[in-house]
Amino acid sequence: MRISVIGCGYLGAVHAACMAKLGHDVVGIDVDEFKVAELSAARAPFFEPGLEELLREVQSTGRLTFTTDMAAAAGNSVHFICVGTPQKKGEKAADLSYVDAASAALAPYLAAGDLVVGKSTVPVGTAKRLAGLIQEVQPDARLAWNPEFLREGHAVQDTLSPDRLVYGVPDGSEDHEAVEVLDEVYAAPLLGGTPRLVTDYATAELVKSAANSFLATKISFINAMAEVCEAAGADVTLLADAIGLDERIGRKFLNAGIGFGGGCLPKDIRSFMARAGELGADQALTFLREVDAINMRRRTKMVELAREICGGSLLGQRITVLGAAFKPNSDDVRDSPALSIAAQLQLQGAVVTVTDPESLANAARRFPELNYQPDMEESLRGADAVLMLTEWQQYRELDPHAAAGLVRSPRILDGRNVLDPGKWRAAGWTYRGMGRP
Ligand code: UGA
Repeated sequence: MRISVIGCGYLGAVHAACMAKLGHDVVGIDVDEFKVAELSAARAPFFEPGLEELLREVQSTGRLTFTTDMAAAAGNSVHFICVGTPQKKGEKAADLSYVDAASAALAPYLAAGDLVVGKSTVPVGTAKRLAGLIQEVQPDARLAWNPEFLREGHAVQDTLSPDRLVYGVPDGSEDHEAVEVLDEVYAAPLLGGTPRLVTDYATAELVKSAANSFLATKISFINAMAEVCEAAGADVTLLADAIGLDERIGRKFLNAGIGFGGGCLPKDIRSFMARAGELGADQALTFLREVDAINMRRRTKMVELAREICGGSLLGQRITVLGAAFKPNSDDVRDSPALSIAAQLQLQGAVVTVTDPESLANAARRFPELNYQPDMEESLRGADAVLMLTEWQQYRELDPHAAAGLVRSPRILDGRNVLDPGKWRAAGWTYRGMGRP
């Protein structure tokens, strides 16, 4: 099929490459000239495992190109909208200006029978509104809503073999013509057994908001348990193992620590609350306010622990922060708990050095006042305390004996509960996890 992908960020760049991998002819369109130039040269403008290899592979087939010119969408039959929906400044709601601008720019190039497919995360009601806007310009174009569930760090695999496909169509009917088109787009994963659900627009939009809210709730639930464990002298990691063995609960997303961040979960729960308020259903989601509050408290808790472990004052203390990305295998620092903690420590008088294998350039743009050191060993030299805040594999595997020889005081705070306390203590370290005695 001939496909356009509008917006080439984390979602769109991966989607475009994966659609080409599935055998389609794809053009990726973005207003950002730098992104387009990088992608055209088969370089990923952000760190995502496997993406660059995939870009090289599919570009050599000639099935994938990138441009800033929306006119390149003309003649294609399926057009994916993959632009961002960040949180509005000073408000909880999502900023839909990119989705609106992309739809408006695309509409004049649509032909009768074309299918526009929304993938961006949007407040419920957006698809219906956009369908109206598009059909004002091209009455015979159709719109489907097909939310994306990929995780950064696993984006290629999640797109090539998703755990489900959701198609939102106006009447929610299997017989809608968009269903057949999308089945052709996703023929390969469907053949591989990916379940696919056809719903109305509103349900498809809500599936995404509900899924991310559930994940956020799971993390805040275990972090709330961590608070209780801290008060009671219990161990939240063992508690998570034990409750996780109940299949109805499951162990995944029950890792307590400094909480969730990134460009999705925090802003998605907030925009979901805002939208529910507009719909008069705000009571239904008041619990998400608590989910958000528990999550933000973890960052404050980590700063307090750092102060405690440094003997009551952060002034002049040299603190090394391992990890700046919001999670490992990503260079994304949007709302990163690690970076937010590093910045708070610095504001309170500590001398903070941050290390991370991939995200230091992004981190330095956001918080230029912090010290950045790409070499992990160098970053540890002379530290009064070490904070493990993003669980990259190399930090999990850090040798406590070797590390003890680099720091000034062997004190470590494990903000992700991934280190073995026994091993670190045996090597002479003062170890503190979160929600563990
Ligand atoms: C999230 C969802 O997991 C995807 O399904 C969704 O498609 C995506 O948002 C999106 O809306 O586009 P992502 O933001 O890549 O994906 O990150 P997650 O893997 O969900 O992790 C989010 C945060 O939760 C990270 O900061 C991570 O460190 C934290 N986390 C995760 C925990 O603190 N504990 C856990 O047990 C799991």
